[in-house]
Amino acid sequence: MGTPNLSDRIEAVEASKSVELASVIAELRRSGEKVIGFNVGEPDFPTPEVVIKATQEALEAGHTRYALVPGEPFLREAIVKKLKEDQGIEIGLENICVSNGSKQVLYSLFQLICNPGDEVLVPCPYWVSFPEAIKLAGGKPVFIPSENGDLDFEKLKALKTDRTKAIILNSPNNPSGLVYSKELKEKVVNYCKENDLYLISDEAYETLIYDDDKFIGPAGVADPNLENTLIVQSFSKSYCMTGFRLGYVAGPAHFIKGMNKLQSHVCGNTPVFIQKGAEAALNNADAISAHMKEVFSKRSGIAFELCKEIFPQTPRPQGAFYLFPKIQEDLLKRFGSDEELAMHILNEAKVALLPGSFFGMPGFLRICFSTSEDEIRQGLKAIKDCL
Ligand SMILES: Cc1ncc(COP(=O)(O)O)c(C=O)c1O
Repeated sequence: MGTPNLSDRIEAVEASKSVELASVIAELRRSGEKVIGFNVGEPDFPTPEVVIKATQEALEAGHTRYALVPGEPFLREAIVKKLKEDQGIEIGLENICVSNGSKQVLYSLFQLICNPGDEVLVPCPYWVSFPEAIKLAGGKPVFIPSENGDLDFEKLKALKTDRTKAIILNSPNNPSGLVYSKELKEKVVNYCKENDLYLISDEAYETLIYDDDKFIGPAGVADPNLENTLIVQSFSKSYCMTGFRLGYVAGPAHFIKGMNKLQSHVCGNTPVFIQKGAEAALNNADAISAHMKEVFSKRSGIAFELCKEIFPQTPRPQGAFYLFPKIQEDLLKRFGSDEELAMHILNEAKVALLPGSFFGMPGFLRICFSTSEDEIRQGLKAIKDCL
């Protein structure tokens, strides 16, 4: 007699390695060490005052009850307007479902589109939750290998099979900081149309782009009525609302109907006072993102120059807040692997960063520069000194 086993489904899923590492770092900090955190992918700004105020006012006004499953009309209207203005996307309220963070959107999304054994093409490097959310739905992540973080369209086509259901694009990319070209987005979205595939476009870092171009996703480029594209969006990064847990998916109406069916049994709805905060974020989006973009743009330049001195094969980040250097051969030989090098840097330099193998790219490191200029300088100097 003993405790019953957990399901095969949950046993097949890996716990988030970055969360596991966070407990090692917390232990170091508890023992009195100062650790510089280049590991957590979260903006270090406070949540904007307008968002806090709108949330507080909503609580005081009594917006504390059960609400509509896909999100209240005021927020879905604001999202429809935003997508139209930003990307020329022509949709209605029936094309939006608001969930508790884009993590929940992604979990639900694969439950909707995958039958057991269905395949989803995932370009390397990928954000850690993509493969696990696919596996939780009984699907199979099929990784598109990459030498340097770029997505090779020919490799993508070669890996498509009869079981392929969807392709994921995440641009600006976590962890590489890369922004896919408009041409590539157009090719992928047209390929999805020709082959009856979903294109899942994770646009979490849309406001953090460091050249003069405005963000445009694959739907804005070639699928304005969202026939094949599922836009996955988060309020976490662009509006510093990580703890609010709010995100949404925009997609075909029949898909959103399925989302609503699932969500009605899972969480019911997202809190209305949180949705009020999100509405305020969208109404003030330009001011919020202009400030963040300016600060992150400056930091990205500083971090890039210093990182290149340590790891010459560091591409300039085009978006998001990550550097993704390739570790040079001699260092890799000396330390054995990216994971061991990351542990050495944590133990010796007291700087936490993540190995590329967490993201399907062994031999790389992810350095998040969402911290002060001082810490960026100190942290990168400490890394240089410990090698
Ligand atoms: C690419 C990407 N998508 C989604 C998320 C999750 O965002 P949320 O806080 O909305 O769950 C993250 C968070 O790191 C991310 O990097």
